[in-house]
Amino acid sequence: MGGKVTVVGAGFYGSTTALRLAEYDVFDTVVLTDIVEGKPEGLALDMNQSRSIEGFETKIIGATTTAEGAGYEATANSNVVVITAGLPRKPGMSRMDLIGVNAGIVRGVAENIAKHSPNAVIIVVSNPLDEMTSLAQLATGFPKNRVMGQAGMLDTARFTNFVAEKLAVKVGTVKTLTLGSHGDTMVPVPSRCTVNGKALSELLSQTEIDELVDRTRNGGAEVVALLKTGSAYYAPSAAAARMAKAVIEDSGAVMPVCAWVDGEYGISGVYLGVEAEIGRTGVRRVVESALTDSEVSALKAAAEAVRAKQADVQTL
Ligand code: LAC
Repeated sequence: MGGKVTVVGAGFYGSTTALRLAEYDVFDTVVLTDIVEGKPEGLALDMNQSRSIEGFETKIIGATTTAEGAGYEATANSNVVVITAGLPRKPGMSRMDLIGVNAGIVRGVAENIAKHSPNAVIIVVSNPLDEMTSLAQLATGFPKNRVMGQAGMLDTARFTNFVAEKLAVKVGTVKTLTLGSHGDTMVPVPSRCTVNGKALSELLSQTEIDELVDRTRNGGAEVVALLKTGSAYYAPSAAAARMAKAVIEDSGAVMPVCAWVDGEYGISGVYLGVEAEIGRTGVRRVVESALTDSEVSALKAAAEAVRAKQADVQTL
């Protein structure tokens, strides 16, 4: 396949994403960067030494970078860039509590990335997700289709896992969907959830579905509370890596992502969790699907909540 992907931030989320991308063996190069001197180089060395065991040829390059932009030459001309930079939550924090500190970090990273990879597709995973995605688009000045955020894939995967566990069925038989924000206004879409093609509402009571929806909405916080330091990264990195793979393969896969919405569902001018077709150009198009009236209302409420915060972020 070929091509180059950069993962900014060599914390657990970033390093796991980099390794997953390398193991797909579809890119020539995975670049992993961090501001902690030696950390990305050390992790890259270690990952490269796993290549003969796992059987992949993708080369991993580690590069220490600075906020001023040193070290970004290593990322030059990336096809895809995954931005994981920023702080994770601590127990009791909401994603929104990170907005001030992460806005500064994400803005700086996005500017440096834009300088060196002017044609890249950017996938943001830093929190608060919807706001940081919007900020990355502003800071890069890239067309909106070339900047998207990872959240819906993760939230959907959590929902799917909870349904599969509840019904004691194989995870592969369950289809779920979540839209909206990666936060309090997440919109799980039970009307689009099936198990072996059967509607979820035929298999679980409304109370049971509501419990799973709640657990999904708090899925990140549940992990944070258990870990005590740091936040989830196995499921999040799986989601981000799949998105980057869909870009480089120009696959046209339809995935729930944070994308710029321009008229779909009667919503405009905001980054929001929706289903989108992903390819080389990033978001090829937002895919509008049949939702119930109450799901559309919840999506509109999510859009307004995110819109207000995305306006704040411009000045951070
Ligand atoms: C989560 C963080 C990564 O949901 O947002 O786990």
